[in-house]
Amino acid sequence: MKNPRAQTWSPTLILTVLQIIGTGLASNFQIKANIGENVTLPCVFPAVQGLPLTDIRVFWQTSSDDVLMYLDSGIVKRIHKTNRYSNRTHFFGEYLSRGNFSLLLARVVARDEEEVIHCYIQVKDNTGFSMRYSSGVQLEVSGCFSQPLLEGPGNNSYTCKDSINFTCTSMGEYPKPQVEWVVNHEKHHGHPSETLDHDLNTKLFNISSILTITASAVETVQCVIRNTRNQKMRYSVQLSFPNCTYSTTDKEKPALWIIAWGVLGLALLMAVSGIVIFVILKSRRTSSSDSANVPADRSTSDRSTELAPLTQK
Ligand SMILES: *[C@@H]1O[C@H](CO)[C@@H](O)[C@H](O)[C@H]1NC(C)=O
Ligand SMILES: *[C@@H]1O[C@H](CO)[C@@H](O)[C@H](O)[C@H]1NC(C)=O
Ligand SMILES: *[C@@H]1O[C@H](CO)[C@@H](O)[C@H](O)[C@H]1NC(C)=O
Ligand SMILES: *[C@@H]1O[C@H](CO)[C@@H](O)[C@H](O)[C@H]1NC(C)=O
Ligand SMILES: *[C@@H]1O[C@H](CO)[C@@H](O)[C@H](O)[C@H]1NC(C)=O
Ligand SMILES: *[C@@H]1O[C@H](CO)[C@@H](O)[C@H](O)[C@H]1NC(C)=O
Ligand SMILES: *[C@@H]1O[C@H](CO)[C@@H](O)[C@H](O)[C@H]1NC(C)=O
Repeated sequence: MKNPRAQTWSPTLILTVLQIIGTGLASNFQIKANIGENVTLPCVFPAVQGLPLTDIRVFWQTSSDDVLMYLDSGIVKRIHKTNRYSNRTHFFGEYLSRGNFSLLLARVVARDEEEVIHCYIQVKDNTGFSMRYSSGVQLEVSGCFSQPLLEGPGNNSYTCKDSINFTCTSMGEYPKPQVEWVVNHEKHHGHPSETLDHDLNTKLFNISSILTITASAVETVQCVIRNTRNQKMRYSVQLSFPNCTYSTTDKEKPALWIIAWGVLGLALLMAVSGIVIFVILKSRRTSSSDSANVPADRSTSDRSTELAPLTQK
């Protein structure tokens, strides 16, 4: 929303901005700010110290003429403020007389970094107000300082060969964050599946990363969110896991096999012993008939010996 009063002094601004560039009184600041916190936008021009405030005009406005604050003859003109900065700006009153027109910008939002915020100081002289000083502030905003939330398998039971999902989430991140995983105290180089939701209005990101690992390969898991702007890392809690166990179904399988083999072994044993008994019994029977035959054999041999002479005869 363009402000009609802002436009009335805009041509003067252009003229005097050129004067400032000539006198080298323009300065620029890059300031880091955290979303939701307050930030001080500096604008100090000691040369006006001692001058009555009635001889000074201060404009705080963005590159697109969005007015944050207008100080005219010592009176703060809130009429110049648009909704975007409503109830968010304050001068440090007691410093005005010392040429310190720094502005408190409360409850920083991500959009505050979209434009350079300028401070222009005009001073009254013989010909009226003329521009004496300007500065620009570029905010560099970071958001979210809470601990990322890490969720593991919870109380769900799993076996050594199962894949377990770990979910790391964080909301209200700015700028776009990076999620890193630490598995068994080492940076994990897997490929988690990542979901990034971007709120087009607030510009904030919600991030969620799902890491899937085989249970037998996990001792500890932790996720880390890296702010890509200030490189600050925020660590989740660390989840620790006891050695994985085989599930009850895994335990039953070998047990069943043992029973099956046991039954089969028993059956085999019975069959074998049956055969053995049968053989023994049979061999006993045959051996008794054999022993009965022995004399017969002998008799035959005897006979043969007897026969031999017979044949010899
Ligand atoms: C600013 O504050 C006033 C009074 O507390 C309130 O009525 C108004 O809605 C606020 N404006 C915004 C944009 O929050
Ligand atoms: C101007 O005032 C602000 C707000 O009190 C203060 O933080 C800053 O240090 C002051 N700057 C100078 C140069 O005195
Ligand atoms: C931020 O500014 C608001 C509004 O001026 C004020 O109520 C609040 O106390 C300030 N917060 C801090 C941490 O200075
Ligand atoms: C796991 O079980 C314990 C005790 O039964 C309970 O206190 C805890 O809330 C459970 N955790 C989850 C994530 O369900
Ligand atoms: C684990 O995550 C994958 C996606 O990464 C999903 O397809 C699967 O259903 C999840 N498994 C469980 C048990 O939640
Ligand atoms: C991010 O999460 C918050 C809280 O659950 C929700 O209110 C917001 O709509 C989410 N933003 C996006 C872009 O999904
Ligand atoms: C887990 O397994 C490792 C070897 O695989 C062994 O050294 C360690 O003592 C086990 N820990 C527990 C708590 O059983």
